[in-house]
Amino acid sequence: MAGVVESREWHLAAYAPEGVPTSDHLKLRTVTLSLDVDSIPDHHLIVQNIFISVDPYQRTLMSGLEDGLYFPQIKLNEVVSAPTIARVIRSKDSSYREGDFILNPSSGPIAEYCVIPSALHLRKVDLASELPLQEYLSSLGLPGFAAWVGIEVLGDPKPGSNVFVSAAAGGVGMFAGQLAKLKGCRVIGSTGSDEKVKLIKEEFGYDDAFNYKTETDLDAALSKYFPNGIDIYFDNVGGEMLEAVHNHVNRHARIPVCGMISQYKKIWTERQGVRNLLNMVGKEVRMEGFLMSSHLNRFGDFAKEIESYIKEGKISSKLKIYHGIESYLESLGSLFTSSNFGKVIIEVQK
Ligand SMILES: NC(=O)c1ccc[n+]([C@@H]2O[C@H](COP(=O)([O-])OP(=O)(O)OC[C@H]3O[C@@H](n4cnc5c(N)ncnc54)[C@H](OP(=O)(O)O)[C@@H]3O)[C@@H](O)[C@H]2O)c1
Repeated sequence: MAGVVESREWHLAAYAPEGVPTSDHLKLRTVTLSLDVDSIPDHHLIVQNIFISVDPYQRTLMSGLEDGLYFPQIKLNEVVSAPTIARVIRSKDSSYREGDFILNPSSGPIAEYCVIPSALHLRKVDLASELPLQEYLSSLGLPGFAAWVGIEVLGDPKPGSNVFVSAAAGGVGMFAGQLAKLKGCRVIGSTGSDEKVKLIKEEFGYDDAFNYKTETDLDAALSKYFPNGIDIYFDNVGGEMLEAVHNHVNRHARIPVCGMISQYKKIWTERQGVRNLLNMVGKEVRMEGFLMSSHLNRFGDFAKEIESYIKEGKISSKLKIYHGIESYLESLGSLFTSSNFGKVIIEVQK
């Protein structure tokens, strides 16, 4: 490989307080990167990104409003970052060699090539494992872990529990439903198209599912699908669905709040409130927001359990793969239009 490489990277050119970021906000630029190992500081690596995870939280960092959501806002002109799987090209850290594959679970630049500090929480990817590399960004990564924390750690599922999962066909939702099924629960999902309703029943074993876009009366839909009430609601969407759920919760129900994607495109004063939270008191409901980063001490337990489920064929995983770094804008937008199914990932290069 030559001494320099041209690398394309996405940076934030303008904030998008509302809606989905467009090419006015996110721009691709080309930079020239030296591949000379002496050009990087000690304990740094030059890496070539292979897969990039596209996640809803990334949009929340582009509004320019510090309103308490997730992490600090990206600075203008800064490169946008995401969980990545990368190949080490040059290393100034004796723990990593050229050709190693690494998982950068939190903050790899969305770029073709980049320099990263090896002090990040990097994990080497075991190429001897039978699992495809991409699964480290899906079942064995952020979405699988979020589903596991919500269902197994916070949800306290019991055989026969009535479980509801929203955004049930997505990266997190597909695992939340399957994990609850493995615990013997009755699981219903909601999603945004009839095609996805069919697929989550057939591919992920949901007992039943409905399209929240055509079931215009969510209260009536929940009465129909939960005649005995809801014991666990795995919330991915917030808003009117969360409000409707509060009218159907059983005594001591658990609501692990993983995310509220229906509200991410709005400034906080325009977000939808939930008017019937008083039900939490009478029904003694436990509603708890969580971040996976606070549960990392359980990551080993999760990985062991999910890996054996995958090997035994008890859990299936679906990926929506976009190709090339240039697809970031389109793939990010797909999370907000119901056009994705499964975990959205960019394959940067083979
Ligand atoms: N707490 C954590 O640590 C953590 C970690 C990972 C993800 N999350 C959260 O988990 C949720 C799911 O993330 P993911 O990565 O798995 O994304 P995803 O479900 O793969 O993609 C997002 C999905 O949300 C649904 N959606 C979009 N706009 C909506 C709206 N206005 N109302 C209802 N549904 C809407 C769409 O599916 P349909 O409309 O077709 O259903 C879309 O496909 C997000 O809220 C995310 O922020 C949290």
